[in-house]
Amino acid sequence: MMTSEHVRIIAIMNQKGGVGKTTTTVNLGHALAIQGKQVAMIDMDPQGQVATSLGLDNQQLGIDVVLLEGETIDTVKLHARDNLDVVPAGPRLNEFEHLNEGGVERGHRLRKAIEASSLSAYDFVLIDCPPSSGLLGVNAMFASSELIVPVSGDYLSLQGLSRMMQILKRSEEISGHRIRLWLVSTRMQLRRKLTAEVRKRVLKYFPSRVLFTPIRENVALAECPSFGKTIFDYRKKSSGAEDYFSLASDVLERRVADGQE
Ligand SMILES: Nc1ncnc2c1ncn2[C@@H]1O[C@H](COP(=O)(O)OP(=O)(O)OP(=O)(O)O)[C@@H](O)[C@H]1O
Ligand SMILES: [Mg+2]
Repeated sequence: MMTSEHVRIIAIMNQKGGVGKTTTTVNLGHALAIQGKQVAMIDMDPQGQVATSLGLDNQQLGIDVVLLEGETIDTVKLHARDNLDVVPAGPRLNEFEHLNEGGVERGHRLRKAIEASSLSAYDFVLIDCPPSSGLLGVNAMFASSELIVPVSGDYLSLQGLSRMMQILKRSEEISGHRIRLWLVSTRMQLRRKLTAEVRKRVLKYFPSRVLFTPIRENVALAECPSFGKTIFDYRKKSSGAEDYFSLASDVLERRVADGQE
């Protein structure tokens, strides 16, 4: 089965830890599902927080056995919410990061598994990536048509972005397809001068690539995963819910912030 032109496969990636990758995957994914899109999330981080954030067990088989043993995605896929399915990391995903055999083929296992699955007929596949640039990240990159890089509102978050861009370029060369880049401002404390400064820099370095809606720091976003709830299950009226709902529209409409800000 070929991946249809229609499905948007988006890796949520940043080698920097704690910038909001998983929070964005889970809440953007649920927002898109609420807006009527058919969505799947794949957890490519051995920490396995996507399934638990949705109240599901991560101890069952997941993308780990797909990548390690050639199991199909459809046998390990779980139903999470209306319009929303999840492929958990599974307890053995870390083994894949250290796999030595398989040559260059190892980098393309996720792409092939998605192409051979029902996910290729969905509207969106969101891939949550680990904070590293190993084999898991390579698989996510080769499988994706787009990349969302969350950038948190502190100075250190600007570091490492140029390396990310190099990896992106190299992946485009190897895979032979364009990978559309988006950035999203996360964990924004709008009253802080530093936050505004970081957003300004990101807009300057990546004109027309920064999604319109900044995600504000919101304690409800940090609380909800421990209840196995997304922000829409937990606090529908919070700023976090408002921001991620708006971000979903940005993604649907490819709406970006004006680089002139
Ligand atoms: N907008 C926000 N407001 C408040 N807390 C947030 C926000 N975004 C993320 N957090 C919290 O910050 C922490 C890191 O977020 P998250 O786990 O999404 O980052 P990550 O990039 O996936 O981290 P890792 O690199 O470890 O995978 C979590 O405790 C999360 O709940
Ligand atoms: Mg994470």
